[in-house]
Amino acid sequence: MAQPAYEIDEMISAKSIAARIEALAREIKSTFDGTDKLIVVGLLRGSFVFIADLVRELDLPVEVDFLEASSYGDSTESSREVRILKDLRGEIAGRDVLVVEDIVDTGFTLSHVVALLKTRGPKRLETIALLDKPSRREIDIRATWTGFEIPDEFVVGYGIDYAQRNRNLPYIGAVRFTGGAA
Ligand code: IMP
Repeated sequence: MAQPAYEIDEMISAKSIAARIEALAREIKSTFDGTDKLIVVGLLRGSFVFIADLVRELDLPVEVDFLEASSYGDSTESSREVRILKDLRGEIAGRDVLVVEDIVDTGFTLSHVVALLKTRGPKRLETIALLDKPSRREIDIRATWTGFEIPDEFVVGYGIDYAQRNRNLPYIGAVRFTGGAA
């Protein structure tokens, strides 16, 4: 199916993202200081760039694992039904866990994943989202740490896609539909 044509307006620069991640990593370190191992769980696929930058700023022993939950498919609207497409490789029982999400939008994905992982008995489970769109929330959930609150706009870049495109942009940009087909 042809995608509608769009342009991308820069919303958050690569430099601002890097500065914010440094500050977040310091807060995470102080929360988990003394841990023997922090399991950093990236939600695929949108968090892959964020998690790569975040763990390199984290001065803690970390293990990285990934979980994939179904999200928007190729549309810009949430399906509201969350399915686990790929589960963790490792065990999290008795462990410190940090779940890394790209965007909290309606909140369905994060709340589903947190509820699931809590059933596995982690010692402590916290969450971080690079972006938060509070005006879109349908489930009452907030990540422990948020990079940036943004307005109700569809964004791409820094790992985040529109129909699998634009993940490789170094910044976060807002999609502006220009009419017509791409
Ligand atoms: P939620 O379940 O509605 O909170 O949606 C979370 C997921 O939807 C995110 O992890 C993203 O994969 C996707 N998503 C939400 N907003 C956007 C956006 O603006 N651009 C691209 N993907 C988005």
